[in-house]
Parts: sequence; structure tokens; C-alpha cells
Amino acid sequence: MKQNHKLKNYYFCNVKIHEKYIRRCIELAENGLGTTYPNPMVGCVIVYDGTIIGEGWHKKAGEPHAEVNAVNSVKDKTLLKKATIYVSLEPCSHFGKTPPCCNLIIANKIPKVVIGTIDPNEKVAGTGIKKLVEAGIQVTVGVLEAACYELNKRFFTFHNKKRPYLILKWAESKDGFIAPMEKLEKKPVWITNGYSRQLVHKWRTEEQAILVGTQTVIDDNPKLDARDWRGNNPVGVVLDQNNRIPEHSQILDSHVKTILFSKFKTAAEKENVIFEIIDFEKNVVQQVVQSLYEHQIQSVIIEGGRQTLQSFIEANLWDEARIFVGNIPFHSGIKAPILGKKQFDKCFIGTDELLISRNYD
Ligand SMILES: NC(=O)c1ccc[n+]([C@@H]2O[C@H](COP(=O)([O-])OP(=O)(O)OC[C@H]3O[C@@H](n4cnc5c(N)ncnc54)[C@H](OP(=O)(O)O)[C@@H]3O)[C@@H](O)[C@H]2O)c1
Repeated sequence: MKQNHKLKNYYFCNVKIHEKYIRRCIELAENGLGTTYPNPMVGCVIVYDGTIIGEGWHKKAGEPHAEVNAVNSVKDKTLLKKATIYVSLEPCSHFGKTPPCCNLIIANKIPKVVIGTIDPNEKVAGTGIKKLVEAGIQVTVGVLEAACYELNKRFFTFHNKKRPYLILKWAESKDGFIAPMEKLEKKPVWITNGYSRQLVHKWRTEEQAILVGTQTVIDDNPKLDARDWRGNNPVGVVLDQNNRIPEHSQILDSHVKTILFSKFKTAAEKENVIFEIIDFEKNVVQQVVQSLYEHQIQSVIIEGGRQTLQSFIEANLWDEARIFVGNIPFHSGIKAPILGKKQFDKCFIGTDELLISRNYD
């Protein structure tokens, strides 16, 4: 009994150490949020004798993977033969834009590999682990698996569900309206404070596309870019079956790539403005999501208006909802979408309340 107890403690202790380093991998990987598409975010740590001797993360598709950056950062490469390499996602085993990371690990004779989670991409999906095991490497899989999945929720949704990760986002007044009934100018009426609006621009740099309905473009003439945060602008997407949005709309000025879902093409098609023709008599939301998947888009932030958001809610095609509740009442206007009974995480950004709900376990 005494020996079992000791063994149990030893195992527990080991798992905690693995978790500590995989947690660091996740931290490193998060630096790539918004810049690694279509690749996942990955972090890597190399440990020798209880000390981190190398670290790296994947920064951009086409550039070195996390494992390569971590190995390159090790000063004394002779230590690799006695080290453990931790990586938040299974190392790749295929030739893509860069050579397989499994080959690098094997070539450097690293004897132990600890992996957060298996790669869902069918080009990898366990083949990396198999290759490492066949090379005689000790492989541990499934450390902080849930956190590693959450890190790459967009990538996992894309590969497992064959659709982009879908985020609903809107701002509503204190009394539940997303816009006043009458507008004096063709621009948004702000409900939230400057910090909340800047946060939304940060969010836009994290997602591959931003989607709105026709009426929002007509009423607000939005740019749909991320001008208040450093990072990539998402691809603009508009549901515009009858091509009602005006030619001079800011989203058609080619400053960002835009996809228009419509019944027919018009002369508005040009560089950076693409038409996708769908059947508006059938499941519109499903067709849009399928087409965006075919465009290799892994995530979409859906920013309104009410009708557009509600159609995604009704199709139950959403993963996350982020709702700001401002501090001013409108008394009348366009009602906020109805999400139904959901659990929310809540926080405050100044006087604005931010509610976040997830539609997955
Ligand atoms: N507070 C906020 O967070 C926020 C965010 C965005 C917008 N807004 C406000 O919301 C207002 C617009 O909202 P809204 O509900 O009237 O309009 P909307 O959702 O922006 O646009 C509705 C139009 O988009 C097309 N559409 C949307 N979903 C569709 C679907 N499932 N299938 C086919 N077509 C679809 C249809 O165009 P067709 O009629 O041409 O077929 C529909 O009439 C604006 O005043 C804007 O200021 C507020």
C-alpha cells in the first residue's frame, strides 16, 4: 500500500510538471492569434534537467513552425539528446510549406515528446505521433487537452465540423435596442464606450472574416476593418441578395477583400470584391457557411444587424455570442436579437456590460 501511495504521488507530480510546460506552450502559441491562418496556433518548449532551454511559437503560415523556432533558440544543441520537447499540438508529419517537424525531432535525437492534443487536420491526425513512436521516442499525449482545444477552437471547428467558428457580436442599449428607429446620418449610433469599441477592433484582427446584412451597410456605411488595433483586417462578407448596397459603400472600396452573397453578379465585381451566387429560396445561412468553408475561412465574427444575427441563431449556427449592454436607453428602435436562455460570463468595460455565452461544451 505504502509503495502504491508513493507511486501515485510520483505520477501526480509528473503530470503537474507536464501541465506547467504545456501551459507555457499555450501562452506562447497565443502570440499568433490572428496571424497563423490557415495554420493553427502552436507553442513549444524544450526542457533539460528542469530548465527551459528553448522556446518558440508559430507566427505565420509559410514561416517556421513552433518546434523549429524552439530548437533554433537552444544555445547548446548537444543538450537536445537528453531533453524533453513540449508542444501544444501534435507535430506535423507531412511536407507542407515547411518540412515535417517530426523529422526535426527525430534528426535531433530528442528522446521525449509531450503533446497537448492530436491535430484534427486529416493530413496529420495521429500520423505525427505514430512516426515519433516508430522512431523510438517516448511520447505522452493529452496534457491539458481541453485548454489546447480551446486555444485552437477555430482550427478544430473548421476541421471537425467542416465550417468556420462563428461568433455573434452586437451592442444593445440599456433597454434592449441595437439601433434607434430614426437615424440622422448614415453612420452607426454608438451604444458603447471607446474602450469597448477598441476591443471589438482587436477581436476583428483575431477572426478571418466579418459578416453583416444588407441593411447595416445601407444604414451605417461601415468600414468593417480593424483601424483601432494593430493587426490584419478580416475579409468583409455581406448578405445582399438583390444587390441593394450602394456602389460607393466603404466596404466596396477594395481596401479589404469583400465577399457579397447575392442572387446575381453586378458591375461592382472588381479586384477584392467577389460575388458568391446562392439560392435564397433555400437554407441561406447553411449555404453561406458552406461557401465560407470552401473559401478556407476558419472564423467569422457576425456583427449584425438584428435580422442577420437572428437567422444564425435560428439555424443554431453559432459558437459564441458577445453582447455589449450600454448605459443609455433608446426607448424605441430595432430590438436586439433573441438568443434564448443561455448562461453568460459577465464583466464590465467601464460602464458597459459585456456578456459572453458559448454554444458548445
Ligand atoms: N448595435 C449593433 O451592434 C448593431 C450592429 C449592426 C447593425 N446595427 C443596426 O442594425 C440595423 C439593421 O438591422 P436589420 O435587422 O434591419 O438588418 P440587417 O440584418 O443588417 O440586414 C437585413 C438584410 O440582410 C439580408 N439578410 C440578412 N439575413 C438574411 C438571411 N438569413 N437570408 C437572406 N437575406 C438576409 C436581407 O437583405 P434583403 O432584404 O436585401 O434580402 C435583409 O433584409 C441598422 O440600423 C444598424 O445600425 C446595430
